[in-house]
Amino acid sequence: MRVLVVGSGGREHALAWTLRNRGSATVFCTPGNPGIATVADCIPCDIADTAAVAAAAEHVSADLVMVGPEAPLAAGLVDALSARGLRAFGPTRAASELEASKVFMKTLCARYEIPTAPFRVFHDGEAAAAYVRRAARPLVVKADGLCAGKGVVVAGSVDEGVTAVETLMVKRRFGDAGARVVVEDVLPGQELSVFAVTDGVDLVPFLAARDYKRLGEGDRGPNTGGMGAVAPAPGVPEGMLDRIVDEILAPAVWAMAQEGRTYRGVLFAGVMLAADGPRVLEFNVRFGDPETQVLLPLLETSMVEVADAVLTGQVNRLALRWRAGTAVCVALCAAGYPDRPRAGDVIEGLDAAACDDRTLVFHAGTAVREGRLVTAGGRVLNVVGTGGSVDEARVRAYGVAERIEFAGKTLRRDIGVEPHPTATETTQAVEGVSG
Ligand code: AMP
Ligand code: GLY
Repeated sequence: MRVLVVGSGGREHALAWTLRNRGSATVFCTPGNPGIATVADCIPCDIADTAAVAAAAEHVSADLVMVGPEAPLAAGLVDALSARGLRAFGPTRAASELEASKVFMKTLCARYEIPTAPFRVFHDGEAAAAYVRRAARPLVVKADGLCAGKGVVVAGSVDEGVTAVETLMVKRRFGDAGARVVVEDVLPGQELSVFAVTDGVDLVPFLAARDYKRLGEGDRGPNTGGMGAVAPAPGVPEGMLDRIVDEILAPAVWAMAQEGRTYRGVLFAGVMLAADGPRVLEFNVRFGDPETQVLLPLLETSMVEVADAVLTGQVNRLALRWRAGTAVCVALCAAGYPDRPRAGDVIEGLDAAACDDRTLVFHAGTAVREGRLVTAGGRVLNVVGTGGSVDEARVRAYGVAERIEFAGKTLRRDIGVEPHPTATETTQAVEGVSG
């Protein structure tokens, strides 16, 4: 089996790693990164160019293409690959609207009674600002379109809310992505990341995971693309995963089919465990980053088998096998992350951080310059430890994280320590950066 992975971050490294180690696949990756190059043949390519990716898939005679990031999915990469007779794992462009348009997602939830935060949609900056002023309470302002994770502002005050509206809708910081905004109520509670694979009819959930979005310990500071993750997420009430499947994921899959946008691939719900039950904050149409880096090391089942079930409509027969225990991922980030990550710092100690089958280092933002491995992105490395308990997994992950050195190395030391607190704390304009 020859598989082409599309993308270049820690998530794609985890995918390539599992395909090779638990799927016995011959793995290719476009464009890949130096870490991925240890488990796959990397092919340089602009992944925004769907024809170029399709050509790369044909060139390596890929039996299967797995797409990591959302932008190529939203641009119709799976449609383009399928049109050329290639087997591609991921939703079509029409189905990717679930992530690519917050207005589509929220109105779908409203039409099909999928629990989510109460919201309003605005097409006009003045009307949105007037609503924020009138409401006079903390609100979340979300750009409609894809903004690489930077389009959501949890505004604790009217001023912050109005500034967010101006930034997104008037100044158009993210272009047409801000032509419409969703303004919704802030939901307090703990967040959970829940993934399921679906063939458009049936679905099978993964273990619930939690990611740590804020830069600072104790969940303070700016939002980032993820400082770490843990799976299974600790402290999740008994039966909660079933409720999330029954109340959020299964209705979403059904709704998408009703809308003529049958959803196939991985569906990811960012869920708030609110006092009155789980509510979906967002749907993503792909694997999460860095949740994938903790889920895949625990997954015994080959992703080749998973993709096969999805592509042949046999998810009803798919039984995922999980390793007992926990995985913890610590992101090692560059100086200046998330706003202005510095590139070019030399990374040392990777060899000394000898990994066994209980620790792994996935590359997220690295490059080779003059024969040396250097930082080349905000999130540089994802160090994963596994163990029988959260503590055991943490100790392993941090043991390796400490041995890796580069100037400006930034990490959170509380990943997996405790479930992170409520998301009601206010932020300055959220400056997230996502995978
Ligand atoms: P989204 O891209 O919509 O998931 O938003 C990004 C992040 O903003 C989420 O993961 C939450 O941490 C936060 N967030 C989004 N919507 C809400 C909400 N209604 N209440 C509280 N926090 C939220
Ligand atoms: N971890 C959240 C995301 O991938 O967007």
